[in-house]
Amino acid sequence: MIEIKDTLQNKLPIITFNDVTFSWPGKTDHVVNNCNFSINKKGLWMIVGKNGSGKSTLLKLINGLLKPSNGVINNLADVGMVFQNPDHQILMPNCRSELLLNINQKLSRKDITTKINTVLNKVGLAGFENRPIHSLSGGQKQRLTIACSLISDKNFLLLDEPTALLDSSSQLKVLEIIKDLTNNKRNPLTALWITHRLEELSYADAVAEMKNGNLSDWYKPLNFKYN
Ligand SMILES: Nc1ncnc2c1ncn2[C@@H]1O[C@H](COP(=O)(O)OP(=O)(O)O)[C@@H](O)[C@H]1O
Ligand SMILES: [Mg+2]
Repeated sequence: MIEIKDTLQNKLPIITFNDVTFSWPGKTDHVVNNCNFSINKKGLWMIVGKNGSGKSTLLKLINGLLKPSNGVINNLADVGMVFQNPDHQILMPNCRSELLLNINQKLSRKDITTKINTVLNKVGLAGFENRPIHSLSGGQKQRLTIACSLISDKNFLLLDEPTALLDSSSQLKVLEIIKDLTNNKRNPLTALWITHRLEELSYADAVAEMKNGNLSDWYKPLNFKYN
């Protein structure tokens, strides 16, 4: 029993920032300034902040696209990204080929088919395997990018304003799918969701504000006050 528990604990996605500072080359101001926080539980974590406050930069530091100028980032998660505009992310002409691009190619044909069906189901796109990308709505494309992270076995999703370009019904659908995935009892995903839509915060397990290069403490949505 103890062994199983330890294995599970090792798999807990944990991200920690210790005194992390980052400046863009050629700029003197610190976009991220002595930032400390950690994400040490599964669930849906949300960050809000004004335009230019450094939210996207923070995500790029977490996924290793950028290196801090100072401080230490620990990342034990397998991180997948979902950007604001799915057209900047999707490369292939249809859903199946896009998913195949992200899957472990060593799997058998049978396992690949099973996995494709499973992830499409999870994002509410059952039966969409052979649909051309151009026939998908913005929300459906966004759900496909989530399926691509799932099929590559990511356990931690970084979503950078994923609903900014969506109409309100697609927005809600994407949010509910992520909420379900993070609530899944057997194999929960952890998600860090950046938003400027305050109405989305009520779905979060924890909310923080990015301001002056720093992330605030984490709050329950009901206790969170946006300054
Ligand atoms: N590639 C880049 N090169 C130089 N400066 C950048 C780059 N990307 C963002 N910045 C600057 O970093 C600051 C934070 O940007 P960003 O992280 O995109 O904020 P947010 O996502 O909160 O709107 C802004 O001042 C922006 O101009
Ligand atoms: Mg941004």
